[in-house]
Amino acid sequence: MKKIVVLSGAGVSAESGIATFRDANGLWEGHRVEDVASPEGWQRNPRLVLDFYNERRKTGQHAQPNAGHLALAGLEKHFDVTVVTQNVDNLHEKAGSSRVIHLHGELFQSRSTADPTLIYDLDGWELNLGDRCEKGSQLRPNIVWFGEMVPMMEVAVEAATGADVFVVVGTSLLVYPAAGLIDYVPRPVPKYVIDPRLPDVAPRPNLHLIEAKASVGLPRLAEELIEQYAR
Ligand code: APR
Repeated sequence: MKKIVVLSGAGVSAESGIATFRDANGLWEGHRVEDVASPEGWQRNPRLVLDFYNERRKTGQHAQPNAGHLALAGLEKHFDVTVVTQNVDNLHEKAGSSRVIHLHGELFQSRSTADPTLIYDLDGWELNLGDRCEKGSQLRPNIVWFGEMVPMMEVAVEAATGADVFVVVGTSLLVYPAAGLIDYVPRPVPKYVIDPRLPDVAPRPNLHLIEAKASVGLPRLAEELIEQYAR
């Protein structure tokens, strides 16, 4: 089976009602990154950080996958699909994608502050001061904050170097190392970028820019890929 590797960003969840970061009314309009998504912000004011992620869980807990997520899940019938996402929501999984690599963590998980290997699924949307891991330390959101290592990047690079087709959808390609993943895709491999406001991506061989929303561009591309590689 041909290998398809996808890099998704907040834009793929926009039509599911989840705010992006840098569009108008984006998440970074109402909050300073350094206050709510950095280790320093956590040290300074853990309550503010917990409230920021509680609010995102509360508003996002009932979000449903859109036609874009579903198109990617449907590709698994014909291809070996790996979704590398910058998103912390679980909409790719809800849509049925079975291999999802979360570069920036998972919103509905918490993590021990004493032992980062202790990760817990959250039931419900709240994580509060006083919620502790089995070793008695405060739990934090299982999110990769700015300035922290991206542990899954190595796995993502390995997938990208082995891709037969590479798809970028719904990301401004402004945050590294995620934005650099496309540079690991071999030159002859077709690369598609889907976004209603195309990000600034360096010209390269076999690059196809598709100016469309995820819910339109992904189903259309899926059809094309099935026609081309799987009929
Ligand atoms: N369909 C597809 N793309 C869309 C849609 C849509 N309906 N609506 C908006 N977009 C595009 C925007 O044009 C933009 O290019 O989604 C992208 C969203 O960009 P950002 O808000 O910067 O989100 P993202 O690229 O995922 O941010 C990367 O930055 O703040 C950190 O950790 C955070 O994972 C996040 C990372």
